[in-house]
Amino acid sequence: MKEQIDQKNLPRHIAVIMDGNGRWAQKQGAARIFGHRSAITSVREIAEGCAELGIEYLTLYAFSTENWGRPKFEVNALMELLVYTIREEIPTLQKNNIRLHTIGDFESLPERSRKELTEGMKKTAENTGLQLTLALGYSGKWDIVQAARQLAQEVLAGSTQPEDINEHLFAARLSTGGWPDVDLMLRTGGDFRISNFMLWQLAYAELYVYSDLLWPDFRKPHLHEAIIAFQSRERRFGKTGDQVKEIVTKA
Ligand code: IPE
Ligand code: IPE
Ligand code: MG
Repeated sequence: MKEQIDQKNLPRHIAVIMDGNGRWAQKQGAARIFGHRSAITSVREIAEGCAELGIEYLTLYAFSTENWGRPKFEVNALMELLVYTIREEIPTLQKNNIRLHTIGDFESLPERSRKELTEGMKKTAENTGLQLTLALGYSGKWDIVQAARQLAQEVLAGSTQPEDINEHLFAARLSTGGWPDVDLMLRTGGDFRISNFMLWQLAYAELYVYSDLLWPDFRKPHLHEAIIAFQSRERRFGKTGDQVKEIVTKA
């Protein structure tokens, strides 16, 4: 399937709602956390898969602001798993020239997780291939509010004038400031919703939902399948189909 992918029409930025770990485990009569643990393989597969294809940005929704409301033992287990995973996966990141980033309310994370993340980001800072971002303690509404707050402070300080605020400046203050918007958003687990993920950055993303696939079963061919579907779609950005075809012919 990989051979069917058109290298000249790749999504620059892929975002993923990695959903269905709990159901995956429960289906086998295991505890939900077993699903979270098994999800690590899927994270490795998609990161390697994107790196192999030359995708520039991959953003993974790993823990939402709302997920803090889960039972305490599940939250703790997820945070522990995060520490362990980052430590274990650094060699894979290095081997594939992948740079690690994080977005979200960093201060809301436990100290151990922050320490491990900081370490991981430092170690991979020189890598120039895939830019891999973990969204942790993240929500789209949180992101928009923190950007608005920064701008308000700049206006108060006099370094920004209210009339200077436009889409470009606002986007620059989001946690993804400087990165391209999402081209393709994947969601496993069958639900057709955004769950407070990157609300602004998803404005014109193509959505791809796997109806029968839970995240721990995700492998590289699933990524390839979504990219092939992406390439068959016509992205009109508000224009007419004829206009879009004309632009393509001219190019
Ligand atoms: C996604 O899997 C992982 C996180 C939200 C941390 P879930 O834990 O939401 O799994 P389901 O949706 O309950 O099956
Ligand atoms: C979305 O999954 C968040 C992550 C994958 C981290 P959820 O399982 O929390 O989403 P809902 O509750 O089904 O919308
Ligand atoms: Mg879920």
